[in-house]
Amino acid sequence: MAFPDNFLWGGATAANQYEGAFNEDGKGLACADLISGGTHTEARRITGYIEDKYLYPSHEATDFYHHYKEDIRLFAECGFKSFRFSINWTRIYPLGIEEEPNEQGLQFYDNVLDELIKYGIEPVVTIAHFDIPAYLSEKYDGWSNHILIDLYVKYCRTIFTRYKGKIRYWLTFNEINTATLNIGNFLSLGINTRDCDFTNQPDNLEKRYHALHHQFVASAKAVALGHSIDSNYQIGCMISYMPRYPYTCKPEDVLLAKQEENMHSRFCGDVQVKGKYPYYVLHYFEKHGISIEITDEDRKILSKGCVDYYAFSYYLTLCCSSDESVNKNGHSMIGGSGVNNPYLAQSKWNMMIDPVGLRIALNDIYDRYQIPLMIVENGIGAYDTLEQDQTIHDPYRIDYLRRHIDEMEKAIEDGVDLIGYTVWGCVDLVSASTGEMAKRYGIIYVDNYDDGSGDLHRSRKDSFYWYKKVIQSNGKER
Ligand code: BG6
Repeated sequence: MAFPDNFLWGGATAANQYEGAFNEDGKGLACADLISGGTHTEARRITGYIEDKYLYPSHEATDFYHHYKEDIRLFAECGFKSFRFSINWTRIYPLGIEEEPNEQGLQFYDNVLDELIKYGIEPVVTIAHFDIPAYLSEKYDGWSNHILIDLYVKYCRTIFTRYKGKIRYWLTFNEINTATLNIGNFLSLGINTRDCDFTNQPDNLEKRYHALHHQFVASAKAVALGHSIDSNYQIGCMISYMPRYPYTCKPEDVLLAKQEENMHSRFCGDVQVKGKYPYYVLHYFEKHGISIEITDEDRKILSKGCVDYYAFSYYLTLCCSSDESVNKNGHSMIGGSGVNNPYLAQSKWNMMIDPVGLRIALNDIYDRYQIPLMIVENGIGAYDTLEQDQTIHDPYRIDYLRRHIDEMEKAIEDGVDLIGYTVWGCVDLVSASTGEMAKRYGIIYVDNYDDGSGDLHRSRKDSFYWYKKVIQSNGKER
């Protein structure tokens, strides 16, 4: 049997896409609260303040804040061994600069954790999942200012201390490598690019990589701090891992695929696992005239703050072509250009469906780092239909998940140390890239729609019952 006995089957969410209650109980405004809804073809808008003419999907989202007991009961019914969620920085420090944390925010996560503990579900907690206090964006231009390092570490100290004994698995930054893309400016780094389209932000490479550097330092400091507070803490990185294939076997395509994979998928893991910048990034900086101030002290901090495990999201793969005449018509998820793979089918949102790519990724990552791996996001965004009798038939989702689990099993047989798998958006939530509700990932349906209508009631999809069997049989029945 491939899956180890203590394998962490479960689901994953993020506060800004799930919690709602954006201004309740002392919560401050987060950058995510300033991004309007969009569609597959119409970009979300980053606004300077809350404008009446827009609907902001994070404000209500699917209201975990008021449904946490019901949702956790459903997770328990499905047999979840683990649940990944994020703490919203602005619930704890509304502006980011306060001396004292907001007790109501802290209490909310205590309630969530106690509920999980009641059902024996292991929390996997993201400290920052695209949730930067909007104040820090406006005042300091987000992570481009090194001041954020101390503010983040203060926030970490508060939650590491408060939740000691309740949480073992932490992740410092969600998909930290989003910062290698244009879209990362506001979403992931809080750089103040307001009043523009989410998918086309004013971009300054030097500023963006500088901001990323500050996140690396903050992450390493958090790892060291966490270990000093509780030696049981397992603190991981979280990378959006998209393997790049050469579009043809032309050496130039192979080289390009390697370069793209290095810069977008490997770079951040290399820093966070190995504790130093890889040579190819230093060369890239030099070639592009990017000057990043990396002090000796920073180098020391990075080398002393290496993560305990490597967590990643996996959705799709991309092809790279060095040929100008080849149409770069690849996925449109969060930017990054690629070429569609003629051997693969794609989702309605142009994401290439590639289960074997997951086995490739697992082997590549494990080969590179040799530390435990956790898949903390995987799934398919699809249109679902709520039938009159409240059922939802989603064979496409079952098929997607089953085929990816097949490849996980093979990777474990290959020798990869994989410790967990949390299905993305296990309960329907807002899409990060398009801001839609229509793009659903859940095994639990939420009655909520893009025009803001819906009564938020929950229904089990067919995939819920299927996943329950998978977990019950520890992956044998699928
Ligand atoms: C990852 C993010 O990029 O992918 C999530 O960590 C996001 O926040 C998920 O929701 C799926 O992407 P999308 O754009 O379909 O919601």
